[in-house]
Amino acid sequence: MRQVPPPPLRPATEPTIQSIILAGPYQRAMHDGFDLDAYVSRSRALDLSDIRWDDVARYPLAAEAVRTLRYMQDIESHTIVYLRTLLSTSAIDDPEVATFLACWLYEETFHGRALARFLEAAGADVVQRRRSRAPLPARLEAVLTAALARAWPDFVGVHMTWGAINELTTLTGYRRLAAVARHPVLFELLARIVRDESRHFFFYYRQAALRLRSPAAARITRFLVDRFWAPVGSGVQPTSETRFLAAYLFGDNEGRDAARKVDDRIRLLPGFAGASLLEAWIEREIPPRRSVGSAAGRLSRHGDHAVPWGSAISMRSSSAAIT
Ligand SMILES: [Fe+2]
Ligand SMILES: [Fe+2]
Repeated sequence: MRQVPPPPLRPATEPTIQSIILAGPYQRAMHDGFDLDAYVSRSRALDLSDIRWDDVARYPLAAEAVRTLRYMQDIESHTIVYLRTLLSTSAIDDPEVATFLACWLYEETFHGRALARFLEAAGADVVQRRRSRAPLPARLEAVLTAALARAWPDFVGVHMTWGAINELTTLTGYRRLAAVARHPVLFELLARIVRDESRHFFFYYRQAALRLRSPAAARITRFLVDRFWAPVGSGVQPTSETRFLAAYLFGDNEGRDAARKVDDRIRLLPGFAGASLLEAWIEREIPPRRSVGSAAGRLSRHGDHAVPWGSAISMRSSSAAIT
C-alpha cells in the first residue's frame, strides 16, 4: 500500500502534564478527593470507535516506534502479573483500593489489546509470551513483598506511590510517543489511552498523598523508592529495551523536560522533596542529544535491534510493571 505523508497534528500534541491532570471532570476531585463511584461508573473498555485501522498502514511508522510499541504492549499485558502480587498484600483489605484495582486491570487489559491491534494493522507482529511462570528473582520479590506487606500494614502506601510514579511515567511516555512518531492514527489512539492513564495516576497519587502523611510511611516509602525504583518495564523487558525506549522518548531536550515534570510532580508527595527519579535515571543511562529528528536518524542507521547511544550502567533492581 502506498504510504502518504502524515497530516499536521493538532497543537494539542504537547499539552502540559498539568493540563492533563487538572482538565476535565477530575479537576474538582483533585481538590475534594477521588470520586470512586464516578470512576467506577466511567470505567469501560477503551473506546476504539472511529479509530481508522484501515489507515494505519497508509502512514509511515518508524522502526523505533514499532519497537517502542512492542515494549508498551507487553507491559500493558503484564498488568495481570503485577496484580497477582498486589492481591497477596493487605492492599485488598481497603475497599476503595480493591474496587479500583478491579477496574484498573480491566482498562489496562484493553490498552494492551488496542496496542496489539495497532501493531498488527501496521504489519508488525506482536510477541505473546507465557506469564504464568516468573523468573526466580521476580518470584522471590513477590514473596518478600507479600511478607513485608503482612508485617507492616502501611506498606500499601509504597504500592500507591509506586503506582503514581509509574502511571505518570507511562502517560508521559505515551504523550512523547505520540509527538515523536507523528502517526495520525497512533496519535488518536494514544490520546484515548492517556485519558485512562491520567485517571489511574490520579487515584494512585491521591492514595499516596493520604498514606504518606504518616512520617514513618513516608520515610520507608522514600527509602524503598530511592533504592529500588526503575522505569516501568524494568525486570520485565530486557534492560537494553528499557534504555532504547528511554532514549527514543526522553533522550532529547523535550523528553528531558517531560521527565523533569514527572519528577517535579512526585516531589510534592510527603517525604519526596528532592527525590531523584526519571530524570536522574535518564541522566545515568542515556547520553544527551539535541532533537528528536537527529535521534531518529541515528537510530535508523543502527537498525531495529541496536542499542543506541552506547552502553550504560545496569539498573539497580527490577521494577514492578504498573501502567
Ligand atoms: Fe495502560
Ligand atoms: Fe494505567
